[in-house]
Amino acid sequence: MTTGTTEFSKRLDQTADDTEALLAKLLSDATVSDEIVRPKRLIEAMRYSSLGGGKRLRPFLVVESAAVFGVPRQAALMAGAALECIHCYSLIHDDLPAMDNSDLRRGRPTLHKAYDDATAILAGDALLTIAFDIITRDEIHKDANVRLLLTRALARASGIGGMAGGQILDLAGEGRFGDREPVDVARLQQMKTGALLRFGCIAGAILGQSSEREYQALDDYGKALGEAFQIADDLLDVEGDAAALGKPAGADAALGKTTFVTQLGIEGAKQRVRDLLARADAALSVFGARGDVLRAAARFVAERKN
Ligand code: IPE
Ligand code: IPE
Ligand code: MG
Ligand code: MG
Ligand code: MG
Repeated sequence: MTTGTTEFSKRLDQTADDTEALLAKLLSDATVSDEIVRPKRLIEAMRYSSLGGGKRLRPFLVVESAAVFGVPRQAALMAGAALECIHCYSLIHDDLPAMDNSDLRRGRPTLHKAYDDATAILAGDALLTIAFDIITRDEIHKDANVRLLLTRALARASGIGGMAGGQILDLAGEGRFGDREPVDVARLQQMKTGALLRFGCIAGAILGQSSEREYQALDDYGKALGEAFQIADDLLDVEGDAAALGKPAGADAALGKTTFVTQLGIEGAKQRVRDLLARADAALSVFGARGDVLRAAARFVAERKN
């Protein structure tokens, strides 16, 4: 049996609602032990950028990859919330004047527009940090070693060899730091976007203490899905419009970004997405019907309109 579009949307909506509720709780103004106070302006800024929008695809991947192994939903949602905090921080910083200089995100003014640059920088810092508070919490897994493996994987997906590293390759690809050098777009995208999405997929295997083979399958799936996701994003930047996207269209060309669309053309980029979709599908074959929702997630990534 395959997962139909309606069934898929229902599941995605449910995880988005649950993630929203959990983030609202985690990002309340009440302190947890060892914190002194949560300054009003900063917590409000963090909530502005993490509540009330977003597809919540990353938490969804955690929840659905964990479901393959029968991991309790609450534990997966908690890990998903940590990942979403990192994602929201990455968007806040990505939009800053010093980076992509963008005014619109999730259909609203970007954080630095609604507040100011300093508040946006600090809200990003605090979201990054709270993610690591959340991912180590007892509710995630009773075995501290599992929590450690998950925490390390999240750190590596987010940092120098993952998202943050990819972001500097992206800026270098604009020629920001001197001569424009040839860009390895696959590498850049694997890091800036792929790493966090891949983490969402392997998180389920880590939480579920899967076999090596199952881990490998989710790893392969996550890599293919991550790359397809960013190519779809780059295609939407060319073919979409701001109203549907909730962020500006045409921004990449204006900034002189190097993407698969600039390297392969629109048709070439679309073909690459189709190839990646087939790779994602193939990777899931070890799970049989248990992989149906993840299979549908890959289709969603390729066909999404925002
Ligand atoms: C946007 O990610 C940034 C990229 C990595 C391309 P999403 O398209 O998942 O953004 P939201 O969370 O739904 O707003
Ligand atoms: C952003 O890529 C990737 C991260 C935020 C890490 P983009 O710069 O293409 O994302 P959008 O288009 O602004 O959402
Ligand atoms: Mg960017
Ligand atoms: Mg951007
Ligand atoms: Mg983009």
